[in-house]
Amino acid sequence: MSTTNTQSSAMPAGTGPDDGNPAGRARARRRSKYRRRLANVAGLMAALVLTGGLYSVFAPAQAADDTTESAAEAAGRELYERSCITCHGENLQGVANRGPSLIGVGEAAVYFQVHTGRMPLVRQEAQAPDKPVVFSDEEIDQLMAYVQANGGGPTLPSGDLRDGDLAEGGELFRLNCASCHNFVGEGGALSSGKYAPSLDDATDLEIYTAMLTGPENMPVFGDNQLTPEEKRSIINYVQTVNEQLDPGGAGVGRMGPVAEGLVIWVVGVAALMFGIFWMGSKA
Ligand code: HEC
Ligand code: HEC
Repeated sequence: MSTTNTQSSAMPAGTGPDDGNPAGRARARRRSKYRRRLANVAGLMAALVLTGGLYSVFAPAQAADDTTESAAEAAGRELYERSCITCHGENLQGVANRGPSLIGVGEAAVYFQVHTGRMPLVRQEAQAPDKPVVFSDEEIDQLMAYVQANGGGPTLPSGDLRDGDLAEGGELFRLNCASCHNFVGEGGALSSGKYAPSLDDATDLEIYTAMLTGPENMPVFGDNQLTPEEKRSIINYVQTVNEQLDPGGAGVGRMGPVAEGLVIWVVGVAALMFGIFWMGSKA
């Protein structure tokens, strides 16, 4: 009893840190609160450093991607601003009475138009004709990258573009293309000064991108209308016919035995009649 009394009486003067007196306990509590706050700050710092570290690990790769991508795109933008912007607009949106929007036409359309020399257009006509190509392959790639990155749309196919069935290709060609391009792709006139050009000089990729993008009056043959395999069959047919030389004489549209028979009938029978009448008039 007495000892506790003396102790308790001595307590107010006590300065021991861990003695059970209220002041000491408050100080300890304050210190542990301080420590906890310090731990919080340290934790926050650690989290920040970790986030920053993670960011610096992942971001540079992405940033590097961006810069390599935009190198081609930037070159493409420069070409575009020099040669195309007057007709197709600052943001590919097109210019009234000059050129259509290029948003969504894709690199496939750019490839077709620029690789066949149709673009850049020199003057407005019923139809943009194919001309000698103005840009190098590298520049065409850059234009494609620029338009693809800013407008999106159909992309170029890959692989062997003649990897298709020849007979099926012929059938599909007569069904889908011959109405304008003639039976073996010789081309033909359309209305109001327009025409379907001969396919003699078209490359595999030009034929593919023509189908994919439908220039001018030509319909678009998307992958729902003609699957990529069917497109390859058609290309195989067109190029096989292009490579076949006429064995001699007139090609007669190379429409096969019906046309040849018709020519023999009309020309041959006319010659026979002429001979008969000539002999009759002699007698
Ligand atoms: C003098 C105006 C003019 C210039 C310059 C011009 N274009 Fe065009 N472009 C047109 C017109 C008009 C059409 C649509 C008629 C046509 O296809 O014949 C067109 C069509 C196109 C198309 C097809 C769009 C579609 O819907 O499939 C592409 C792609 C294209 N141009 C790209 C270019 C590129 C790339 C350049 C620059 C290298 C360029 N053009 C320069 C006038 C122009
Ligand atoms: C409604 C008529 C029409 C049909 C059908 C049509 N085309 Fe065309 N095609 C055209 C016209 C018109 C052009 C010229 C477009 C231009 O100059 O901008 C053309 C251009 C092309 C060219 C570019 C030739 C060159 O080198 O200049 C190719 C290749 C082509 N067509 C392939 C095809 C194929 C393959 C089919 C069938 C799947 C087909 N076309 C169906 C009208 C047609």
